[in-house]
Amino acid sequence: MKHTLIKDISNFDDETIVVRGWVQAKRTGGKVIFITLRDGTALLQCIIESFIDSFDVAKELNLESSVILEGKVRKEERAPGGYELAVTKVTAIHINKEDFPISKQAHGIDFLMNNRHLWLRSQRPVAIMKVRHTIVKACRDFFDENGFTLIDTPILTPGVGEDAQSLFPVQYFGKEVFLTQTGQLYLECAALALGKVYCFGPTFRAEKSKTRRHLTEFWMIEPEIAFAELDDVIAIAEQMICFITKRVLESNKKELILLDQNIEKLEKIQAPFYRITYSEAVEILRSEKTLTFMNEELQKESKKLAEKEKMAKDIEAQLQGGVKAWKELKLKKELKELKEDIVDLQRDIGNKPKHIELAQNFIWGKDLGGSDETIISRMHDRPVFVTHYPKEAKAFYMKHKDADSKVVENVDLLAPDGYGEIIGGSQREDDLDVLIDAMKANNLDPMDYDWYVDLRKYGSIPHGGFGLGIERTVAWLCGLKHVRETIPFPRTMGRIYP
Ligand code: 4AD
Ligand code: MG
Repeated sequence: MKHTLIKDISNFDDETIVVRGWVQAKRTGGKVIFITLRDGTALLQCIIESFIDSFDVAKELNLESSVILEGKVRKEERAPGGYELAVTKVTAIHINKEDFPISKQAHGIDFLMNNRHLWLRSQRPVAIMKVRHTIVKACRDFFDENGFTLIDTPILTPGVGEDAQSLFPVQYFGKEVFLTQTGQLYLECAALALGKVYCFGPTFRAEKSKTRRHLTEFWMIEPEIAFAELDDVIAIAEQMICFITKRVLESNKKELILLDQNIEKLEKIQAPFYRITYSEAVEILRSEKTLTFMNEELQKESKKLAEKEKMAKDIEAQLQGGVKAWKELKLKKELKELKEDIVDLQRDIGNKPKHIELAQNFIWGKDLGGSDETIISRMHDRPVFVTHYPKEAKAFYMKHKDADSKVVENVDLLAPDGYGEIIGGSQREDDLDVLIDAMKANNLDPMDYDWYVDLRKYGSIPHGGFGLGIERTVAWLCGLKHVRETIPFPRTMGRIYP
């Protein structure tokens, strides 16, 4: 018999089907075994009663065993998906000799990350990977439907793409080259050939920062548009973010609910987004209003911390008093999660005074730091475009606003709720002399970039684009604290295993 996918189960009410997958959960109650089967498309509750011939096989199954189940589909409102399977035949594919390392117990994040290859099978990572898939597909569809051509840019590159401090060197037949930091410079060449183009691929930054937002290997989607000025770039970015958010809301409600994400909040992500200049951002950071806001946040967080500490104490007391085995497991898990939240909150509270001070004493000219972005993005309920940064704070290729101007025609998009920058983009410098001067000011030898400089010699035009970081977008839309959960196998300063 052909295998049925669990997601299609409602088409087979009262019929006999065959499903295959892994034992996600198992419970034995006297003469019946309950199995939650996962096949990658959904979960299915399966009931195996002792009168069937293969009941003994079912007894042997342990967590994450692989199995084929034949049975009759029946309506069951309390089951996930509204149906369950009354099993008539159990065929084991592989019964594990050792217990699966990831159980219902509470595991710390290091343990989970070291077992990422197995952790991926849990409900939460599965949900996140589904949302990630939707986001990637939505980005591609957006560009494909709007007349962009996909251009695959190289991963091995001879020079700096974005900044010299975070290059990953690679030996290339006796010569030092680098893993790409961005496809942009190559994409600009393609924009002058095809008009509207985009690239999508892995990018690399040797970031020595251990933050919740930084990976050393991350995926970026970058459009580049001929005959575009900064406002055109911003308009495309806004349309794209609305398109992605809508798609996630349409396709992934189930996953968002599992991840405890606030759906109403995401429904508010509508154009127009806020738009401020860097100078206005600096004013906001230094304002009385921000000071008040931050102090209120500090109070709120302290209150939350006290609540969580009390909850943890209560659970500890319950555990000491003695509880049933199943309840003990549940309580221990809750306690572990609470303790992790408490550590996070303590760290946030501890950092706040420093962040307040940094914001209040912010000096015009520096790039916005992570904590500055967090403040601006916490103060807004929709994404915020911040434009026109000082040229010293940004990459060499950005267009100078005017001849004697201190700022460039660039834009960063800050996601709300403290997520910070998810997009960086700009109009590009299209004037040959200004570009060469900017390269020299950034200690880059224009001779090393003669191919890039050529674009300003032959049919130079105003053009621009941006890069959207996939992982930060997934973290924001899923409401995750850290980007490490947004990519199947994260690479950070401290992790390259598994
Ligand atoms: O702002 P960035 O550095 O911009 C560029 O690379 C431009 N060349 C893009 C362009 O104009 N075509 O990076 C763009 C985005 C950031 O906004 C962020 O979302 C993500 O890439 N990003 C990172 N994500 C995770 N970890 C890191 N270390 C990241 N660095 C940048
Ligand atoms: Mg940036």
